[in-house]
Amino acid sequence: MNTTLQDLGITAGDVFLEISYLLAAVFFVIGLKLMSHPESARKGNFYAAGGMGLAMVTTLFLHRDASGAHIGMINIVVIVVAIAVGGIFGTIVARRVKMTAMPQLVSFFNATGGAASALVALMEYSNPDNTSALVTLLGLIIGTIAFSGSMIAYGKLDGKIGDIFAGWVKYFNLLMIGIIVALTVYMLAFDHSPEMQTTLSYILLTLALIYGIMFVMPIGGADMPVVISLLNSLTGIAAAMAGFIYGNQAMILGGIFVGSAGSILTLLMCKAMNRSLINVIVGSFGGGGAGVDKEQGNIKEITLSDAAVLLSYSQKVVIVPGYGLAVAQAQHACNDLVKLLESKGVEVKFAIHPVAGRMPGHMNVLLAEADVPYTKLVEMDNINPDMPNTDVTVVIGANDVVNPASYDDPSSPIYGMPIINAHESKNIIVMKRGMGKGYAGIENFLFFNEKTRMLFGHAKDTLQALVGEIKEL
Ligand code: TAP
Repeated sequence: MNTTLQDLGITAGDVFLEISYLLAAVFFVIGLKLMSHPESARKGNFYAAGGMGLAMVTTLFLHRDASGAHIGMINIVVIVVAIAVGGIFGTIVARRVKMTAMPQLVSFFNATGGAASALVALMEYSNPDNTSALVTLLGLIIGTIAFSGSMIAYGKLDGKIGDIFAGWVKYFNLLMIGIIVALTVYMLAFDHSPEMQTTLSYILLTLALIYGIMFVMPIGGADMPVVISLLNSLTGIAAAMAGFIYGNQAMILGGIFVGSAGSILTLLMCKAMNRSLINVIVGSFGGGGAGVDKEQGNIKEITLSDAAVLLSYSQKVVIVPGYGLAVAQAQHACNDLVKLLESKGVEVKFAIHPVAGRMPGHMNVLLAEADVPYTKLVEMDNINPDMPNTDVTVVIGANDVVNPASYDDPSSPIYGMPIINAHESKNIIVMKRGMGKGYAGIENFLFFNEKTRMLFGHAKDTLQALVGEIKEL
């Protein structure tokens, strides 16, 4: 006798739902692949969002619970209102945000993801039909830590919250981890009345909230983007846990993609700064630091006209862009300079440091916006061997990523961090507003180098004036 899908209680809707999840997963993978290059990243975002949209719509209309009811339809009004409010808010915020405030926004959005997963776990923990208590509690803990940690990261990046560098925080956090683990074991190992279950889950939520706050509070300076990426991966893991609770493949896959992408990015950033993840989390980095009190020597300035002559009569020029270029929104003026120099037969390349700016790929995105061809962007490892042959290196709004203290000063917090070897080139021009420090908050020996001359001013104004000056030659 042939068994049909109907005999098994499987409807055409169920089959379509599963196919839509498979399609969504394919869209996620294509999206991620396209996001790995700035030129195709926008398209990649559309694919990933399309996959997510498809999964949301089919889940809403076709997902059935154990009793066969279409649960999405039961609360349709609440769901539609929630989507509308979230969608409108998200669109307005994302459209208004400045490029330089992107890390804060990512952190804020990440917090909402963590909160959503934690709320799912909180509600489902007391649901008698829920058979995956361990996954639920892990989702609650991880989602809550991602939420409170990301909110603190958002506040710190936005300058609303300061740092706590006190030594006791480390021990407090270890104690918190111990208590959270012990409570989780207690909740899983013994039977509890429904009221007790609810009370315990709220206690666990509170502990995880506190831990998330205290985990991010001592992390300062240049380490924040790494922490954001780490929190991002936690949110992904929490979403995957929520997917397990509901047996929803799209949610599990989406969560795993976010979790693994976040973890890979975290490790890549640690590698680019030559630091272990543990060092980033436990060791407070940035601020004060070494080199500050040391004898610096003198700085030399260069006039616009001297800079114009030096650049125009060079053969090879390397531009090192940094966070200041983004702040000054000087990418277009920078591209004007490049085009002008090239019209005079000068070879110009950009040296891209993996952690220049405040987020991964910051410089690539910024320069792409000004239509700088990708072929001109050379990664640190590829350009460094060429630095001794470079006539002039122009450092624009970059600081930490060209600081030779990473080679020379074992006591420096950036010691061992790979840098663009600007100091090896024949001449160095540094464009910045004054003697302000970089993200790591430490002095830069490059500025006192014999071959370095400073061109002070707002990067956009300086670049525009320089272009004008070169045209006059
Ligand atoms: P920074 O070291 O932060 O230096 C930026 C410099 O730009 C400052 O010294 C500032 O000096 C100058 N500046 C600011 N506004 C300017 C303006 N309008 N015009 C001209 N100059 C301006 O930047 P960086 O070299 O790009 O290094 C990035 C830092 O972030 C590193 O410490 C890195 O480890 C950290 N980090 C980044 C990431 C990612 S993923 N990007 C991840 C982890 C850590 P003045 O105030 O004197 O002008």
